[in-house]
Amino acid sequence: NAISLKDSYKKDFYIGTALDTNQIAGKNSKEDFLIKKEFNAITAENIMKSMYMHPVKGKYDFTFSDKFVAYGEKHKMFIHGHTLIWHSQLAPWIAEIKDSTEMKALMKDHITTIVSKYKGRINSWDVVNEALNEDGTLRKSVFLNTLGEQYLIDAFKLAAAADPKADLYYNDYNNEEPAKREGNINMIKKIKAAGGKIDGVGIQAHWRLDSPSIEVIEESILAYAALGLKVAFTELDITVLPNPWDLKGADVNQNFEGSAQMNPYPEQLPESVQVKLTERYASIFKLFLKHKDKISRVTFWGVHDGQSWLNNWPIKGRTNYPLLFDKDLKPKKAYQSVLKLKETK
Ligand code: G3I
Repeated sequence: NAISLKDSYKKDFYIGTALDTNQIAGKNSKEDFLIKKEFNAITAENIMKSMYMHPVKGKYDFTFSDKFVAYGEKHKMFIHGHTLIWHSQLAPWIAEIKDSTEMKALMKDHITTIVSKYKGRINSWDVVNEALNEDGTLRKSVFLNTLGEQYLIDAFKLAAAADPKADLYYNDYNNEEPAKREGNINMIKKIKAAGGKIDGVGIQAHWRLDSPSIEVIEESILAYAALGLKVAFTELDITVLPNPWDLKGADVNQNFEGSAQMNPYPEQLPESVQVKLTERYASIFKLFLKHKDKISRVTFWGVHDGQSWLNNWPIKGRTNYPLLFDKDLKPKKAYQSVLKLKETK
């Protein structure tokens, strides 16, 4: 099969994948072949987060990020940096900063050092990740606590100063949902009004079979594009498993690890659910194609079902089926449905 996602969508937008350490090192040659064949954009799934890249004050570890960038360059891929300012997977010493002067200095050092190091080589950055609550207000974090909302403006200004040509993104999940979207739009307007450079918004797209609706996704593409932003879908996957909070009357403290009810398809995905997943992917990509002039990149959060984070979240040790390739690296029907949209054009 000579046809690939990246070639089929070449004129529309980049098709990306997230890579973790083993994949960057090319440990599995079959997987490596698949990555090169199907994708023309890469994001580091974990290694560029502060706990790995800046584990101790004044000490940076570029071992894996150097390999990641070299991998992308070697294979002429679009390289996306994830992520500069995030409250999670935060280096413990950063989490403990209490003083605004110290936090300002940390932000300047962290953003300037990392972005300058890869100036002209990393094409775009998630400058700030997940700064919003579900109701659109700003999330409490060590950054907000020490600097107030000025930290958002500072982050974008510092990144732009370090690499004026890189595209700078704000990235979040559920920011297609109306309340969070509105908060996101207001936040971006404030950043721009204060002189911050922001080129795009990342909609993570950790989605489900039945939500969000295609209408809500479309409204979001239009609303963000109306601000003059590029829209990227940055972490696409579709869970087919139930979550504990969906259970009526569930005890939130119950340990669901090993529960058959929460892991209904340990061996294989039933045909009926496979069909739903296939249709879901087709309708999502149909919408993406309709708005291809507004969309810069669609990146999947992982290469194949076997290594998706969704096998371990929100419950450890499940078998999920969220991507276009199965755990044996075979293309699923959902893959064919995404390619088919281009064949009929
Ligand atoms: O590095 C340790 C390893 O030493 C240890 O043996 C192993 C045992 O569990 O854990 C390893 O750390 C894991 C880390 O990924 C690196 O593989 C953590 O447990 C695990 O929690 C962590 O999960 C990552 C998660 O972010 C953390 O929040 C996922 O792989 C990653 O896919 C996920 O990605 C995030 C995006 O960055 C932001 N948007 C949401 C998305 C999904 O949560």
